[in-house]
Amino acid sequence: MTIATCIFDAYGTLFDVSAAARRAAAEPGYEALAGTWQDLAATWRRKQLEYSWLRAVTGDHRDFWQVTQDGLDWALEQADLTDPALRDRLLALYRELDAFPEVPKMLGRLKAAGKTTAILSNGTPDMLAAAVSSAGIGDLLDDTLSVESVGVFKPDRRVYDLVGARFGCVPADVLFVSSNGWDVASAAHYGFATVWVNRAGEPTDRLSARPGTILKDLTEIPELAA
Ligand code: LAC
Repeated sequence: MTIATCIFDAYGTLFDVSAAARRAAAEPGYEALAGTWQDLAATWRRKQLEYSWLRAVTGDHRDFWQVTQDGLDWALEQADLTDPALRDRLLALYRELDAFPEVPKMLGRLKAAGKTTAILSNGTPDMLAAAVSSAGIGDLLDDTLSVESVGVFKPDRRVYDLVGARFGCVPADVLFVSSNGWDVASAAHYGFATVWVNRAGEPTDRLSARPGTILKDLTEIPELAA
């Protein structure tokens, strides 16, 4: 395996998607979230992803910012938290999610080793630019690839095709890193070398391809890519 290109999923992999609800819960005015923010964050994420898959399957694309709002609205209604100010605050926080703590050093080590690094994400270019900027990792990435250039969400193959089209590499020379088991399975099936970042210790998805490597966080990616 000669890995020249390391491609990262964004939401849940580089950026902590539960950070928006966690941070809102600690702010004055949103005390109702104190005991429930974990459930709200998990439901929001689940509906966001379900909507992305359903829109891909039905060919009825809306961008990820719309799907993110739709998932949040479903989750807030289910939790009986339909406060417009809370909705606005959660969406604002989603645009500046925390990066996981090991991310800057890990990307810095990949760049020092001469690897190409990029994001490949469902996010819109605008959402991704905001997240990359607030995490301060723009200088450590060669590019940020958004599904918006093909108008369909992962795991459609046209999304994974964006990597070869941008960097001129074959799939076997790409290390694809995601915390989403379904994304890793699909990327492995496509032909990428893969890492599943399984922070929560979840079972492996029962799909056609298994993750190449399973890690607890992103710290050891530079060793794997070496
Ligand atoms: C992304 C979603 C899948 O960033 O987390 O593409």
